[in-house]
Amino acid sequence: MSKVNAAVIIPAPTSKPIYKELDFFPTKDEDETTVKVISTAIHHLVRARALGKHYSNSSNTKESLIGVDGVGIDESTNKLVYFTNFGPGLGTFVEKVNVSKKFIYPFPESVKHDDYEAIDKVAVLANGSMASHLAFSTRALNLDKIKDLTVLIVGATGTAGKVAIEIAKHSYGAKIVYGVGRNLTKLKQLQTDIKILDDIIEVNENVSEESLITRFQSLKDIDIVLDYTYGQLALSTLTALIKSRKDSTRLLQWINIGSIGGDSISLPSGALRSQNFYLLGSGIGPVDFSTASGVFQTIVDDVSLGKIGLFFKAQSVDSKNIVEEWENWNPASRKAIRW
Ligand SMILES: NC(=O)c1ccc[n+]([C@@H]2O[C@H](COP(=O)([O-])OP(=O)(O)OC[C@H]3O[C@@H](n4cnc5c(N)ncnc54)[C@H](OP(=O)(O)O)[C@@H]3O)[C@@H](O)[C@H]2O)c1
Repeated sequence: MSKVNAAVIIPAPTSKPIYKELDFFPTKDEDETTVKVISTAIHHLVRARALGKHYSNSSNTKESLIGVDGVGIDESTNKLVYFTNFGPGLGTFVEKVNVSKKFIYPFPESVKHDDYEAIDKVAVLANGSMASHLAFSTRALNLDKIKDLTVLIVGATGTAGKVAIEIAKHSYGAKIVYGVGRNLTKLKQLQTDIKILDDIIEVNENVSEESLITRFQSLKDIDIVLDYTYGQLALSTLTALIKSRKDSTRLLQWINIGSIGGDSISLPSGALRSQNFYLLGSGIGPVDFSTASGVFQTIVDDVSLGKIGLFFKAQSVDSKNIVEEWENWNPASRKAIRW
């Protein structure tokens, strides 16, 4: 037994993390390994689960370890690995943790154990990258049959949206990627930062439905929408998109991934009948482990080798500062938490 520093949280009443020492017992289970954690990150899933507000654990009311994933050294192989560890009583914001070997994804051999840029990048971007990878690889229909794949990203200025631009083009062969957002200044910055983005579309209360329809008519018909926001931004986009299509028989797949802009929309039934339109979602529920496993290995390889996440410069902070980092968390400037 040894002592390890960790960040735990009690969802109510304070919802503030506590940095404290925990007892640690290395695993004796041969299906598990001990990981010496190097880097973790706060992202929306981490916060929602810690606060008991995510659909995957909404009933949690006990003190629990924060975190769902991270990067560290697998002590049984001495390899640098990305790992996930979530479920009742599990977490990753701790110096050492026992993890099922099924959820261990080694870095490429060429990445050194002290390559902190690659390590922090994977810690910060893996979850956001998973979102688009799972949507394309496990939810999208007939992807290989779509000619000149055209993708629209709703919430393109967010971390998951940005990485989705690269993943759509580099990993799934999208010919055209458009980005939708509510803030024109941020959209213009996005175009500067990610040159492969083909066009931007501003959607907010100042943009009329008529002008939005005209805007979409000037673009190629969309095949796949990756929607990170839901809510009004998604509904305004969807309504104008449906009304602007040049070919109503061409399949339009709307894949919802996040709900940062609202939990519900009021979808007119005409939208479902006037077009060849599929509305579906992608998240933790619909995917079996073996599929997700391949996706995580691809993400670790691509992000750590710099193929994905070119726009991103990770900053890092010591885990001792977790309370301050949690309270002042800014999703637009993600930091790695170093253990
Ligand atoms: N299902 C999955 O597999 C999965 C995986 C990862 C993430 N997600 C979810 O995807 C969503 C985005 O994640 P992220 O990491 O990209 O978050 P993020 O970095 O915080 O970005 C949020 C994006 O949503 C926009 N946005 C925020 N509040 C909004 C509102 N009220 N109305 C309209 N747009 C709004 C932001 O626009 P501005 O830039 O203008 O602020 C930005 O484009 C989250 O809900 C997250 O939980 C799901």
